[in-house]
Amino acid sequence: MKILGKIKKMQAYSASLRKKGLSIAVVPTMGCLHEGHLKLIDTAKRHADAVIVTVFVNPAQFGPKEDFSRYPRPFRNDLILCKKHGADAIFAPSPDEMYSADFSTWIEELTLSKGLCGKSRPGHFKGVTTVVAKLFNATLPDFAVFGRKDFQQAKIIRRMVRDLNFPVKIVLEDIVREKDGLAKSSRNTYLSREERRCALSISRSLKSAKLAIANGEKRIGSVRKNIISEIEAGGGRIDYVEIVDPENLEPVKILSGKILIAVASFFGKTRLIDNIEIN
Ligand code: PAJ
Repeated sequence: MKILGKIKKMQAYSASLRKKGLSIAVVPTMGCLHEGHLKLIDTAKRHADAVIVTVFVNPAQFGPKEDFSRYPRPFRNDLILCKKHGADAIFAPSPDEMYSADFSTWIEELTLSKGLCGKSRPGHFKGVTTVVAKLFNATLPDFAVFGRKDFQQAKIIRRMVRDLNFPVKIVLEDIVREKDGLAKSSRNTYLSREERRCALSISRSLKSAKLAIANGEKRIGSVRKNIISEIEAGGGRIDYVEIVDPENLEPVKILSGKILIAVASFFGKTRLIDNIEIN
C-alpha cells in the first residue's frame, strides 16, 4: 500500500494506474476510521481496480469555535485498517500542501447548502466542496464513495460534480450503526459513557418516527415534537430536527412519498448528526 503526501506524487501515481487501463475509486475521509468508513472502502473495491483512501482533516470546513485542533488523528491505526481492507494507496497531505498561504479560490454550492447543517455551520460546505474538488484533482478518480450518514454533504457533492462536469461517478453507501443503533462517527470518541448512553435517543427517536409514519401518522408537527422530546429527555440539546424532501432538502408540507428526517444534536460539547429516509 502506497502512502503519499504530495499532490504531484499522487497525480503521477493515479496517472500511472490510468495508463495501465485500471479504474480508480477514491474514498475521502478525515481519518479516525471506523466501520462506516471501512464499508465505503469495501464498496470502492467492488467498483474499481484500485482504491485510494484520502485522510485529511480539512481545516477549511471547521468553524473557528469547532473541534479542528482536537479532532482525533490516529494515523497509524488508520493505515492498518486501510491495508486490511485492501486499499492500494493512502493520500494524506499536510494542510500546507493543500492550502498555500495565499489560497484564494473556493467552490461554493448555493442551494442545497442553505438549510440543515449549512445553517448551523456557516461556511462548512464551502470548505467541503472545495476540498473534495481538490482531492478529486489530486487522485483523478472514476468513482468516489460517500456515506448517507452525511446525507446533505453527499447531495451537495453530487450537485457540484454535475454542475462543474467532474468526470467522477458518485456512489453512496448506507449508514453503518453500532449494535444499539447509534450511527458510527469519529466524534463518538468524544462522548463520555453517560453521553454515549444518552446519544442513543437520536437513533431511537428516528426509528419511532418511522414506525409512527408507517402506522399512519400524518402530522408533521407531532412527528417533530416527539423526536425533540425524546432527544431532550435523553439530555441532548437540539440543533435541528427537519423533515425534508430528500431530492431538494426543502422542508416538506405533507408526510407522503419520500421524506428524509435529519437531526443534529449536542451531547455535552459533542455535536452528532443522523438521519432516516422514509418511503
Ligand atoms: P468523515 O467524517 O471522515 O467521513 C468520510 C466519509 O465516511 C463520508 O462520506 C461520510 O458520510 C462517511 N461516513 C461517516 N460515518 C459513516 C457511517 N456511520 N456510515 C456510513 N458512512 C459514514 O465527511 C467527511 O469526512 C469530510 O467532510 C470529507 C468528505 C472527507 C471532506 O473533508
